[in-house]
Amino acid sequence: MSTIGVGVVGAGWMGHLHARAYARLPHHVTDLPWRPRLVAVADPVRAAGDEHVSRYGFGRAVTDWRELVADPEIAAVSVTSPNSTHREVGVAVAAAGKHLWIEKPVGLTSSDTAAVAAAVHAAGVHATVGFNYRMVPAVARAKRLIDEGTLGRLTHARFRLLTDFAADPHGVLSWRFTREHGGSGVLNDLAVHGVDLIRFLVGDLSAVVADGDRFVPRRPLAVPGASQYARGDADSPAGEVENLDYVSVLGRAGDGVIVTLEASRVAVGDQNDYGFEIHGTEGFVAFDFRRPGELQVAAGRSYVDQPVTTHAAAPGDGDFALFQPGAGNPTGFDDLKVSECAAFLHGIAGNRSGGATIDDALAAARVLDAVEGALRAREWLAVPEPS
Ligand SMILES: NC(=O)c1ccc[n+]([C@@H]2O[C@H](COP(=O)([O-])OP(=O)(O)OC[C@H]3O[C@@H](n4cnc5c(N)ncnc54)[C@H](O)[C@@H]3O)[C@@H](O)[C@H]2O)c1
Repeated sequence: MSTIGVGVVGAGWMGHLHARAYARLPHHVTDLPWRPRLVAVADPVRAAGDEHVSRYGFGRAVTDWRELVADPEIAAVSVTSPNSTHREVGVAVAAAGKHLWIEKPVGLTSSDTAAVAAAVHAAGVHATVGFNYRMVPAVARAKRLIDEGTLGRLTHARFRLLTDFAADPHGVLSWRFTREHGGSGVLNDLAVHGVDLIRFLVGDLSAVVADGDRFVPRRPLAVPGASQYARGDADSPAGEVENLDYVSVLGRAGDGVIVTLEASRVAVGDQNDYGFEIHGTEGFVAFDFRRPGELQVAAGRSYVDQPVTTHAAAPGDGDFALFQPGAGNPTGFDDLKVSECAAFLHGIAGNRSGGATIDDALAAARVLDAVEGALRAREWLAVPEPS
């Protein structure tokens, strides 16, 4: 089997997941024309790149991503660096004629995402975006039930992304907490995943109103490359948190479905409490990422006292069968990235590709712009149609 040369820009948390996904892909997917070859990783923090070389077998580490993008041996690039880098790196990757697997949110605002989308379309390359929660087999099952009309007409739904990584006030001021590098904070970090799930399962958001706040105003300064999980102490020099810790959005999606979306990075007691409940006139589905192999389903015509059953994700649900032969073996976060990697490489090969596209990222970014506008105006705002 021949190989396709890949590079990874950003050797942090997501860099590890992308690198492992490329490495594991041939274990799970056997119908691609080539297997990934890890040519280079780029990170300004030399030790982070070197660790990727020793753990995953990249050919080399560089400190300037431009060197990686210029490498003729590399045909596909993962962008797993902070949000502020997505526009410049994403545009350069596409302009160099290389395929792009880029992490959400694809820039700081929708103008960044639009620039990357324009470069991708102009170059005719394939792009996949890191909206990994739509790759969960139980979520794929929920989508099928909704599309088949099992829930009747959708009426109202709740989406939540509640976690605690920023709840400790001694958690350091990593790039996520600055406007310059993290953008809108919890919107770009977490709410964007919820927006993608709403679009995937319910339909496009047409109007929003929102409230939000910052609950931890200052944090200890971070060293370059510090993880979002790093801690300082009470005596460390501190800096200001410039973006939101929490947001609550009320919106209309699809055919007028009322949706709520709540996202928090300071939710003490909630760890990766990500999920949804979707109601229709005849049924209901509910999903909790902490129990990824299960989908709660109520379907039938009894309306009142209708029983809820637990469907164990099984072969036939999304990419489940790539990993396990029978129901009840749950899919993990790393598996979702293998699925996304498969969607990326199938897209490059011109096959059907199930992953989120750059146009999905642009649609989600437009919703986030409207949410920010609604937060400022403190009133309902329409989500602008694509121009
Ligand atoms: N899909 C998901 O569920 C998910 C989860 C976490 C993060 N993300 C996204 O992934 C991206 C990275 O987040 P993370 O959690 O891995 O961050 P991280 O802080 O763990 O890692 C970022 C890495 O990028 C490096 N970096 C900084 N500037 C760079 C540059 N100019 N060129 C190359 N590397 C550079 C840093 O040194 C660091 O090693 C973000 O856009 C984030 O929104 C997605």
